[in-house]
Amino acid sequence: MPQSVRKAVIPAAGLGTRFLPVTSAVPKPLLPVIDRPLIHYGVAELAAAGIHEIAMVISPGLEAVAGYFRPNIPLQNALEERGDAARLAQLKDICDLAEITVIEQAEARGLGHAILMARDFIGNESFAVLLPDDLIWSDVPAIAQLARVSAEHGGSVLAAKRVRREAIPGLGIIDADPVGNGVQRVHGLVEKPPIEEAPSDLAIIGRYILTPGVFDRIEYASAGALGEIQLTDAIAGAIGSEPVHAIEFEGDHIDAGTPPGMFAANVYEARRRDELSGVISELIPD
Ligand code: G1P
Repeated sequence: MPQSVRKAVIPAAGLGTRFLPVTSAVPKPLLPVIDRPLIHYGVAELAAAGIHEIAMVISPGLEAVAGYFRPNIPLQNALEERGDAARLAQLKDICDLAEITVIEQAEARGLGHAILMARDFIGNESFAVLLPDDLIWSDVPAIAQLARVSAEHGGSVLAAKRVRREAIPGLGIIDADPVGNGVQRVHGLVEKPPIEEAPSDLAIIGRYILTPGVFDRIEYASAGALGEIQLTDAIAGAIGSEPVHAIEFEGDHIDAGTPPGMFAANVYEARRRDELSGVISELIPD
């Protein structure tokens, strides 16, 4: 039985150009979904799955992203003086979610390259990867659903979801056969294919359990789609030598990596909050 997953990598580099102008001053991972930055949801999901050792791969200058998870002593002191125990506890809880290690990625050379930067941090064990733009609301944390599949079958596991045809050229697409319980055995992966060349409508969503062998495959990979070192290609390289599975996870997923997606994520999250759901029904009556 493989050991349980303890560590994760969150690639959070990138210029956030889709969100300009706000990202000229605020890093994209800190843009809010209601009252928490995007990155908070990903770290909270990992923590809920028992994964507390997290490497964040960030661009130089974006240290504030990791700073969000560190104690803000002047703020804590001010809240303490005011006797605001509830807000103080809320802030302390954020710091307790995880132990964050910052890894700077000087140049953006693709997702695979970002993951390779965390090689020393991970060492020789299976690990999780969480792409913070992909928000997933579920009863069992999505990454824990993947970890279960990895514990049962060994090898690598990808989160998967059926997508509209038009979305296919922007995603990693999976060629697989079902083995039961929403789990598929993966035979092939292709990054951002043209619609007519896609093997299916089953797309990779930003959650992975990977074996440490992926680092060598990234290191010796040549550039793939978009001229970048693709994680998808490195995972595909494992097919045939170790198990690779995909799971159509239980939960609601929104890609918040574009302004419409970010807006949708805010509406979704607002509807879950008692104090906000009324605002939406007032603005948009049924
Ligand atoms: C990345 C992966 C892709 C996956 C997607 C999910 O693409 O390379 O395989 O489908 O995340 O969000 P990116 O969004 O970085 O272009």
